[in-house]
Amino acid sequence: MENPIRVTSVTGTTPGSSALPRGAEAGSKGAGTAELKLRASNLNFFYGKFQALHDINLDIHENRVTAFIGPSGCGKSTFLRTLNRMHEMVRNTRVEGEVELDGQDIFGLEVSQLRRRVGMVFQKSNPFPKSIFDNVAYGLRVNGFAGGKPLHDAVESSLRRAALWEEVKDKLNDSAYSLSGGQQQRLCIARALAVNPEVLLLDEPCSALDPIATAKIEDLIFQLKDSCTLVIVTHNMQQAARVAEYTGFFLLGRLVEFDKTTTIFKNPAQKETEDYVTGRFG
Ligand SMILES: Nc1ncnc2c1ncn2[C@@H]1O[C@H](COP(=O)(O)OP(=O)(O)OP(=O)(O)O)[C@@H](O)[C@H]1O
Ligand SMILES: [Mg+2]
Repeated sequence: MENPIRVTSVTGTTPGSSALPRGAEAGSKGAGTAELKLRASNLNFFYGKFQALHDINLDIHENRVTAFIGPSGCGKSTFLRTLNRMHEMVRNTRVEGEVELDGQDIFGLEVSQLRRRVGMVFQKSNPFPKSIFDNVAYGLRVNGFAGGKPLHDAVESSLRRAALWEEVKDKLNDSAYSLSGGQQQRLCIARALAVNPEVLLLDEPCSALDPIATAKIEDLIFQLKDSCTLVIVTHNMQQAARVAEYTGFFLLGRLVEFDKTTTIFKNPAQKETEDYVTGRFG
C-alpha cells in the first residue's frame, strides 16, 4: 500500500501565488514507494536577531536522495545543520518549530544519539589529524567498539562503502592528510558511514572536486540509497538532476518549492524556481 505523504502549503514568494501541494506523490513513477524519514514543520531559525529560515515545512523520504538548491546565503546549510542539531555548536542561535525523525522530536533526543543516527559530511573535507584507519575507527571506538579484528573489519567495510578501500588498503596507517582532496572527502564519508547512520547529510560534498572525483561521490550516493536516506546541498544543478529524486529550492531563507526533481527542473510551479534553474538569476 502506498504511504500517505503529507501535502502542505509552501510559503510561496510569488505575490498572489496560491499554496502549492507538495511532498511529491511517493508512489509515482521514478520515485517508488517511500516512507517518511524526516519532517520539518513550521521551522524558523535565528542567528541572534537575524532570521535565516522562515516557516519551513518539508518531508524527506526514506532511502531516497533529496537535494537542496538555491543561491548563496539562502539558508541551505543552516537548514541541513538543523536536521542533526549541528547549529547548537554556534552561539546565540535559536530554532522554532519541529523536526521529527521517524516521528520523534529530534530536540527531545540525546544529541550524540541523534548525530549517530543522522551523520554529516561538510563541504570542506575535515579529516582528523590521525591515520586513515583511525579516522574511520574514531566513531566506532566512541560507540564502544573494542579493537582487533571486529574493528578492522568494520573500518574495511566503511571504506569499501565509501569506494575508497582499494586506494588505501595498503596504507591505512598513513596520515589522512596524505590523501588527495577527493580521497579525503570519501574518507570523511567513510567516517560518517562507520556508525551506520540512518540519514546522511552532505553539504556541497563535491564543490572542491574534479569531475572524476565528483562522479565517484555521485556513484556512491546512488549506492548508499539502499541503506541510507541522503540529503545533499549542491550548487551544481546537473548534480541535483542526476542524483536526487526530490529537490527543494531555497531563496532568502524560504523554501520556495519542493517537488520531484523532474518537476523542479522541467515544470516548476513558481517563477523564481524557473528563473533559477534556467540560469536567469543566482
Ligand atoms: N554563524 C552564523 N552567524 C550569523 N549568521 C550566519 C551564520 N551562518 C550563516 N549565517 C547567515 O545565515 C544566512 C544563511 O546562511 P547559510 O550558510 O545557511 O546559506 P547557504 O544557502 O548555505 O549559502 P552557501 O550556498 O553560500 O553555502 C546567510 O545570510 C548567512 O549570512
Ligand atoms: Mg552553505
